[in-house]
Parts: sequence; C-alpha cells; structure tokens
Amino acid sequence: NGGANDAKNIRIKLVLLGDSGVGKSCIVLRFVRGQFDPTSKVTIGASFLSQTIALQDSVTVKFEIWDTAGQERYAALAPLYYRGAAVAVVVYDITSAESFAKAQYWVKELQKRGSSGIIMALVGNKADLQEKREVSAKDGMEYAEKNGMFFIETSAKTADNINHLFEEIAKRLP
Ligand code: GTP
Ligand code: MG
Repeated sequence: NGGANDAKNIRIKLVLLGDSGVGKSCIVLRFVRGQFDPTSKVTIGASFLSQTIALQDSVTVKFEIWDTAGQERYAALAPLYYRGAAVAVVVYDITSAESFAKAQYWVKELQKRGSSGIIMALVGNKADLQEKREVSAKDGMEYAEKNGMFFIETSAKTADNINHLFEEIAKRLP
C-alpha cells in the first residue's frame, strides 16, 4: 500500500449548496458533461451525478455529487445531503449580494451541523457578468479565508475555473 506504482481510487461525497439560480446545476453540468444550458430548470429536491478525475501518480478521484435545490421550500431537505459529505461547495452569484448573504447562512449551518473535518469551498459563480457584479472578489476571498475555506470565482457559461475548482478540491483531500 502506498508504493509508487500503486493505483489509488478515492471516492468522495460532495454537496453543492446555495441560493436558487446561482448556477449550481450549471456548474455540475459543465464539470460532468462539458455543457452549458442557458435555460436550466430549477432543481426539484436534489439531483445526483458523478464524475471521475485523474490526478498525478495514478490517483483517481470519483466525485459523487449531490446538487441540492436552492429554493426556500427545499431548505429542510439540505441536511439529508450534507450529512456525511466530505466536501461542501457553497455557491453564490457575483451579481447578487443577496445570494452572498445566503452563502454565509449555509457556511454557518455547515459549521454547526456538517461532518467534522468537512472541506468547504466558496464559489462566486457567473464571473462572466462583470458589468453586473455586486460582490467583489475581495469580499468573497476575505470571508472564505476567515472561515478556512478555499475560494474561487467561476463561470459555468464560459467554463472558466470549473475544472480548476474540482482539481483544487481533490488536492485538499486528506
Ligand atoms: P436551483 O436548482 O433552483 O437551486 O438553481 P441553480 O443554482 O441550480 O441554478 P441553475 O444552475 O439552474 O442556473 C440558473 C440560471 O443561471 C440559468 O438561467 C443559467 O443558465 C444561469 N447561469 C448559470 N451559471 C451561469 C454563469 O456562469 N454565467 C451566466 N451568465 N449565467 C449562468
Ligand atoms: Mg439546480
């Protein structure tokens, strides 16, 4: 075990949380299928997808992704999905200060009730909409730093930083 030529396959339960419309499903669709859907429908309950990536040294990471529904009526279901998750990706929309406030709510919720040792990432999505920006990258980064989270801005539309997000998460796995 652990020899230089040993293949290592890691399976990771990952949950996405964040306000409705911030682009959680589009991030997953971009990562898993390389596609973008401008007419993406709101998620009902939650949806499940998986994707495997290869790191160096014969290590593969299979992400088992729970894409939760951000609409308020589904909020009570969230613990079903974040319980036991090794990674939580909290998403906001950089054009919506309200969605940034909601992201902070989810971070607090995870700190109170998530798995101990859960890895958390804060994602500012829709980075292609610079002219409509309401949340500065500095504010996102500072909040993430204070809470021990990895921070990145992404665009599911242009694919900017989407693969990078999951690669960085994979690197942080214990
Ligand atoms: P719920 O399922 O209700 O929680 O929403 P969601 O967070 O899954 O949002 P979804 O991925 O369905 O995206 C909502 C809308 O934002 C859709 O119209 C997408 O096309 C759009 N969208 C998602 N990501 C981006 C992005 O990076 N840039 C731009 N410009 N639009 C995006
Ligand atoms: Mg969705």
